[in-house]
Amino acid sequence: MNAARVPAGRRPVGEATRGTTGHNRLRRADRWTAAVYGPLLVSADRPLVVDLGYGASHVTTSELFTRLRRVRPDVEVVGVEIDPVRVAAAKPYERPGLSFVRGGFELPVDRAPLIVRAFNVLRQYGEAQAWDAWDLLRSRLAANGVIVEGTCSEIGHRAAWVALDARGPRTLTLAARLAGFERPSDLAERLPKALIHRNVPGERVHDFLRDFDRAWALAAPYGAYGARSRWVAAVERLAGTWPVAAAPPLGGRRRWRLGEVTVPWTALAPHGRATPGPGG
Ligand SMILES: C[S@@+](CC[C@H](N)C(=O)[O-])C[C@H]1O[C@@H](n2cnc3c(N)ncnc32)[C@H](O)[C@@H]1O
Repeated sequence: MNAARVPAGRRPVGEATRGTTGHNRLRRADRWTAAVYGPLLVSADRPLVVDLGYGASHVTTSELFTRLRRVRPDVEVVGVEIDPVRVAAAKPYERPGLSFVRGGFELPVDRAPLIVRAFNVLRQYGEAQAWDAWDLLRSRLAANGVIVEGTCSEIGHRAAWVALDARGPRTLTLAARLAGFERPSDLAERLPKALIHRNVPGERVHDFLRDFDRAWALAAPYGAYGARSRWVAAVERLAGTWPVAAAPPLGGRRRWRLGEVTVPWTALAPHGRATPGPGG
């Protein structure tokens, strides 16, 4: 479907929120997006990527542009931001293939995007609003399009994101600087809005983080070889009881060594939220 421009005078969908951002803050998600969706970008006709809610500076959108252009040299990236002052501040950084426009969840771009990245945007909305935003964004995607929606710490050392396609949420990825935490559940504070309030006993995401902490504790002897070896050993153990992605592009030792782990959404979905099965 074509994502139409917002008719003149119509308010963008959403609310301006704090504009905190920073250089390289989203590098973990950028690296993952380039690796996992590189083939999608390469095979698409005129791929368009939207960075929704880029904040007070153009910088994370410009970094995404640079990183994705290494994969697909003619990819177009549009930064969409609801705050007009922030759009005006980013305009001077436009260049061929990179532009900034005012808009909201309706995505005022001239064709359906292949990838929508939204980081540190939905956390400031309510949980039900976040699900509504997911639904609206999914309805704007190109065929085979995906959304990468997540949250990270101030300088990006801890991050979590959900990947969604037209059918709904598909995966959750946790990513951390390996020297930057005590136990995996420290990443819980960065869970996306749809999960953060579900990290309570009886919910699957809570069970998952509890088991990850146990696996991390049992992998302590590997710490002698460094936090990277310990993370890989913990994820391998976790994969014995959870359907952790264990093969490329989403999983396997190469990705785990980066401090990542990806799990199918179906394994973690909050109670009361229907989710599509692996083929559904
Ligand atoms: C905390 S900043 C995040 C900046 C950047 N994505 C990052 O992670 O560093 C969130 C930005 O999202 C914008 N925003 C919030 N809701 C939005 C919406 N519905 N559409 C577009 N931008 C939105 C806010 O105005 C704010 O500038």
